[in-house]
Amino acid sequence: MRAYYSPEDDELYVLALEAHAQRLLRSSRLLKMQLGKSARDIEAIILEVLRRSGFREDTYVRPVAYKASVVIKVGLTGLRDELAVYATPMGDYISTKGLSVQISGWRRTADNAIPARSKLTGSYLNAALAVDDALQAGFDDAILLTDDGHVSEGSSSNLFLVRDGVASTPGVSHDILEGITRSIVTRMLKDLGIPTVERAVDRTELYVADEVFLCGTGVQVAPVVEIDGRPVGTGTMGPVAAKLQKVYFDACRARDPRYRDLVTPVYRGV
Ligand SMILES: Cc1ncc(COP(=O)(O)O)c(C=O)c1O
Repeated sequence: MRAYYSPEDDELYVLALEAHAQRLLRSSRLLKMQLGKSARDIEAIILEVLRRSGFREDTYVRPVAYKASVVIKVGLTGLRDELAVYATPMGDYISTKGLSVQISGWRRTADNAIPARSKLTGSYLNAALAVDDALQAGFDDAILLTDDGHVSEGSSSNLFLVRDGVASTPGVSHDILEGITRSIVTRMLKDLGIPTVERAVDRTELYVADEVFLCGTGVQVAPVVEIDGRPVGTGTMGPVAAKLQKVYFDACRARDPRYRDLVTPVYRGV
């Protein structure tokens, strides 16, 4: 997750802390992990790590649940589970001005192979294969298709397209990570008067879309301006992505009262 620094408040705000803690527990359940901690406990640990780190700049926080038994074994049960949390200063992970992306030849791991729905470390091999090829070929990022050829998501982000004033995003049965930013963006688009539909998206729909953008904790809201050498819309950031970016970044730094519920202050009250 990310924490954003607000100079005017001299405060670090964690974005979607509760949602991230809950997803961590859900992902852990999928791997039969028993951390013996509630979402509230995990939130408290994360806030404590941030307080002790004392950062007054944008920060990335990574909690990792892992199998801690010292044993050589492939399996899920009968192994001790532990939680580690670390934080490091981090600015933009990828350009937010306009990305050139490639549709990857690698397919997103199917739900019955390595479930993409949850944030599992192993599934990042899939992303690494795709993004590495894209970077080698001179693109900024990769979009992965499902095994049956529908659009799934970016290598480390969810994807939205806009056509005729309606936003669409692949549904949860299209081997996506159920992104927290995706939910936030859906809420913000609604507030901007732009309806969002969850549905199957064909690859070529991306080529004819008015706008395409990626969203995720790392990528934030990142417009895609070129796909496989074809300009998206005008080939520059579109009006929906531009409006959304403004709302999103204001919300991250607690500058928009409508979205105060999304941020948790780290230092206040300590
Ligand atoms: C593969 C993948 N999809 C989607 C996302 C976006 O998820 P979130 O918005 O919860 O960060 C991520 C973020 O790390 C990701 O790695």
